[in-house]
Amino acid sequence: MAKGLLIICGGIEATHGIARAREMGLHVVVSDADANAPGLKLADGQIIASTYDPEGTADAAEHYARAIHPIHGVICMGADVPHTVAAVAAKLGLKGVSPETAHLAMDKLAMKQRLAAHDIPIPWFAPLRDAADLQLALLERGRDLVVKPVDSRGGRGVQRMNADRDAAEAFEAAKSQSPTGRVMVEAYLSGPQISTESILLNGTGYTPGFSDRNYEYLDRFAPWFVENGGDLPAQVSPAIRADVEATVTAAAKALGIDNHNYKGDMVVHQGKAHVIEIAARLSGGYFCTREIPLSTGVDFVGATIKLALGEPVTPADLTPAFERPIVQRYVFPPAGKIAALHGLDDARALPGILEVLPSKGPGDIIPSATSSAARAVMLLATGESVAEARANADRALRLIRIEMMRQAA
Ligand SMILES: Nc1ncnc2c1ncn2[C@@H]1O[C@H](COP(=O)(O)OP(=O)(O)OP(=O)(O)O)[C@@H](O)[C@H]1O
Ligand SMILES: [Mg+2]
Repeated sequence: MAKGLLIICGGIEATHGIARAREMGLHVVVSDADANAPGLKLADGQIIASTYDPEGTADAAEHYARAIHPIHGVICMGADVPHTVAAVAAKLGLKGVSPETAHLAMDKLAMKQRLAAHDIPIPWFAPLRDAADLQLALLERGRDLVVKPVDSRGGRGVQRMNADRDAAEAFEAAKSQSPTGRVMVEAYLSGPQISTESILLNGTGYTPGFSDRNYEYLDRFAPWFVENGGDLPAQVSPAIRADVEATVTAAAKALGIDNHNYKGDMVVHQGKAHVIEIAARLSGGYFCTREIPLSTGVDFVGATIKLALGEPVTPADLTPAFERPIVQRYVFPPAGKIAALHGLDDARALPGILEVLPSKGPGDIIPSATSSAARAVMLLATGESVAEARANADRALRLIRIEMMRQAA
């Protein structure tokens, strides 16, 4: 009988991983609260449960494993829910992060406290009780600060104060995005931002995913941080790369991660690697599913699935076979309702364009660009060099036009 794998989340960013798991010959069960989630249709079995409901998902998974098909492993994709993975793993006796690691990975304040205790380079940080606390921090430390909800994701509610942001507004905007109503402040660390994706194998870290993050719109979307894709491999010296890899791996160990994957949000500040955040899950946004395999040949999702199933993964599985430039960009239409997407096929036909993937269609609402929810189309480009791949991406972006309805209805 095929081994069973539960993938928590059936969103569009999980679909490539679901397809990969099916290619591996697994019986794939997908859980999501939305019965119309695209990933559910690709699965062998479906569980309707919120990705944010650890107990509900674990109960349903136990029932599925008993009544329909055994489950041998669990992962999440396209949703930052390691606590739900941990709950299923605990209930079914599977591999996975512990509930404590899941908590540290989801609570930005607890994570920073743990990293500080392990002397991992991180920005100065403090919890905020109210806007007055933020006023005080601004007086004491200047405006180079970031205010964020302690427990949200996708950049929601994360704001730069140096964009002349009002303290009371910033505090409320962050608080409104926190399920527990908690807010924190950090020093803003200037410098190149890097995304990493790694696996720890018996205490040794391997980082085939190493991407420059593209923040060309930092000013356009200020005070919000809205990332517009990234470039692989990141254009840094071997010494900086080694420092970033060592730092993200030390941070993952401090959170209790081993024989598991982790995603890093890193900054090279004043020439030294610093941790913004570590996630105990696969990346969203096609980094693990498309960009890493296309740029290195490493089957990162496959390796993660094997670890979840308790199967061996070797260093060779995580070692790049080649280095191919890959550039990812998004299209951000203005806020409103989409009438039509134009030029997607023309963009696909250009040299160096590997993928043009709309995430929104006619009738869909685009919110104002305060987070990644404002993206409508993703594209991947390659070239002889990262610079050429970027130029190819730019040419394709110029062909894509998103027609909006005249009035958002
Ligand atoms: N202290 C900081 N210094 C510099 N940049 C920061 C800082 N904090 C956050 N950022 C930028 O804002 C982004 C979003 O912040 P953060 O990761 O804390 O929020 P998030 O909701 O978890 O977002 P995501 O899900 O995209 O990781 C970071 O990836 C980073 O680019
Ligand atoms: Mg983050």
